[in-house]
Amino acid sequence: MKFVIATHNQGKVVEFKRMLEPMGIEVVTAQLSEPEETGKTFMENAFIKAEAACKETGLPAVADDSGLCVDYLDGAPGIYSARFAQPGKRRLTVLEKLQGVPVEQRGAHFVSAVCCVFPNGDKIEAEGKCFGTIAFESRGENGFGYDSIFEQEGRTFGEMTDEEKDARSHRGKAFALFEEKLKEYLKGGE
Ligand code: IMP
Repeated sequence: MKFVIATHNQGKVVEFKRMLEPMGIEVVTAQLSEPEETGKTFMENAFIKAEAACKETGLPAVADDSGLCVDYLDGAPGIYSARFAQPGKRRLTVLEKLQGVPVEQRGAHFVSAVCCVFPNGDKIEAEGKCFGTIAFESRGENGFGYDSIFEQEGRTFGEMTDEEKDARSHRGKAFALFEEKLKEYLKGGE
């Protein structure tokens, strides 16, 4: 089974492959246009990206829309995580907005909404969340995006191995549920 992954984010490409290939899925990338993410939820945006990629390639397409929701910032940046502040300044901006805020008020969670659209119009949706806190400074070189400021049990995602991150991350959870739903879907088609 060949799926195209609908993302321009290299960090996500790496994680999508890590999660989809063990399911027996051949993952391909393509030069895709970037549809406007006009959705009001993570899932609406995931669907917009997957549907556009499916139409462009004729292949089943998987997209995830994801982001970081910070309690102290009333859930921001949320669905605007990729557009929050200037590129290269996003982590720093979150840290600055939380300057002086004590650890008890630094709660945050990541969300990953995964959507797969098939050429016949069928779709599979799965969402995952993981909870932690915003660190006081950026730590660790692994991962991407906000990983180095998102902490669980004293370590940031940037300080964890791929396996450690996948075992607890929003995307790891979303793809585990996606795998279950995909198996059910494929059984139904037999
Ligand atoms: P999207 O491509 O609109 O879904 O953008 C999501 C943004 O949220 C990314 O650009 C990252 O900055 C951030 N993000 C999503 N997932 C992760 C993750 O697993 N680690 C760190 N940052 C993430």
